[in-house]
Amino acid sequence: MTYQVGYFIGSLSSTSINRTLSRALIRLAPDDLEFTELPIGNLPLYSPDFDADYPPEATALKEAIAASDAILFISPEYNRSIPGALKNAIDWASRPWGQNSFDHMPAAVIGASIGQIGTAVGQQSLRAVLSFCNARQMTAPEAYIHLTPGLIDDDGTVNDESTAAFLTDFMSEFRTHVARVLTVIPRA
Ligand SMILES: Cc1cc2nc3c(=O)[nH]c(=O)nc-3n(C[C@H](O)[C@H](O)[C@H](O)COP(=O)(O)O)c2cc1C
Repeated sequence: MTYQVGYFIGSLSSTSINRTLSRALIRLAPDDLEFTELPIGNLPLYSPDFDADYPPEATALKEAIAASDAILFISPEYNRSIPGALKNAIDWASRPWGQNSFDHMPAAVIGASIGQIGTAVGQQSLRAVLSFCNARQMTAPEAYIHLTPGLIDDDGTVNDESTAAFLTDFMSEFRTHVARVLTVIPRA
């Protein structure tokens, strides 16, 4: 049995270090996790006016989440909070009212920053939102990645042994968390 993991990259940057981090995480993850990116850059800005008739991009997002067993958020911190593009995607997925795509969904949060405190504050904002959305978050380990030049190559190769071990452990714990949540709350 494999688990389908949908993952958000919270950055629209063509040179995103969080995308680089995502490649490392996928390389280091247990073999029974399969990954599909959930794109956010094609979504219009959410408005309740769309609730009666979602645009195809937003419908596709909700369908992709429904096809996932778990969601992984890999995001930078913008001004000590959630990047707007990611928050917009979450808002789309959480609506229309009563059709919240994150309800009971196993989830985890990780992020990379060029700064020393590595997305710690932004992740707290994201966790608060996911909490309201009733996602079943992994609370530990936390992972705040200070991504210095050369630490991870573009293809996701991690050049530091302790970082590789930490990220491997994070993904192993995530797999355990997903299995635990789905044992108690199987996906419909
Ligand atoms: C609008 C904006 C706000 C930012 N705010 C923060 C911040 O609050 N904390 C932080 O550590 N870095 C901040 N940064 C720097 C990011 O860590 C850096 O740009 C990083 O490369 C973003 O991740 P990405 O490459 O995946 O897009 C900010 C960058 C931008 C563009």
